[in-house]
Amino acid sequence: MSDRDLAARRLLAVTEEELQRIVLDIHDGPVQNLFAALSQLTLLRGQLSTTADLPVECSAAITRVIGLIEVSLRDIRSLLGVFRAPAFVENGLAEIIEDIVIQHESFTSGMVTLEMNEPLPETVSLPAKIALCRILQESLSNVRRHAGVETAAVKLWTEKGRLILEVSDRGHGFQPPPLNGPQATERHEHIGLRGMRERAALVGGKLFVESQPGTGTRIRVEVPMHE
Ligand SMILES: Nc1ncnc2c1ncn2[C@@H]1O[C@H](COP(=O)(O)OP(=O)(O)OP(=O)(O)O)[C@@H](O)[C@H]1O
Ligand SMILES: [Mg+2]
Repeated sequence: MSDRDLAARRLLAVTEEELQRIVLDIHDGPVQNLFAALSQLTLLRGQLSTTADLPVECSAAITRVIGLIEVSLRDIRSLLGVFRAPAFVENGLAEIIEDIVIQHESFTSGMVTLEMNEPLPETVSLPAKIALCRILQESLSNVRRHAGVETAAVKLWTEKGRLILEVSDRGHGFQPPPLNGPQATERHEHIGLRGMRERAALVGGKLFVESQPGTGTRIRVEVPMHE
């Protein structure tokens, strides 16, 4: 294994570790505090409702704050769910991809069609697995957040020594920023797209973003199957 491959593996492992630490920190800190705030506010609302001269705006405001906290908690928990560590080491790529798709459907009201075409490699290196799965999660999350449609299609197949994963939707689409020149905003603004591109590059692969306003979006990642 070359020094570059080794460095890429180390970086991926560290990134995963950091991600899991952040997930745990958020779960144990802010999420628990928000739960505590929610139950205290609910209690307060109950106590105040027995106070006859409470202005009606006051109790409406408390109800609004309770609603906001509930929505935030739901959002945070669904985000934490997305970033929980899939069993990268124990499970094969196809199995993890299926899990991610099922999980996405259960967390959102979305529908994902999944097509995995044989032959798929018996084993896929851990870094390639991590890169592909994280790219899948971010792509599905982007469909949910930006495409304005409920349906996405995921396809996995091999071609000329490469593993190819494609996530497409028929939603709003967008103009992908150029990768070079003064308009190359991906570096600064689009952390999701940039992260996907960097993950692909770390395992010697490439990311393609095909989209246009009105025509939907197709994210394709190709990684070599060496090893
Ligand atoms: N499937 C999609 N359909 C429509 N627009 C998309 C899609 N995927 C990405 N985009 C557009 O590209 C932009 C950049 O996506 P990117 O994932 O980099 O950032 P983001 O999702 O806005 O934020 P985050 O950094 O949390 O991922 C989005 O803000 C959105 O405008
Ligand atoms: Mg995103």
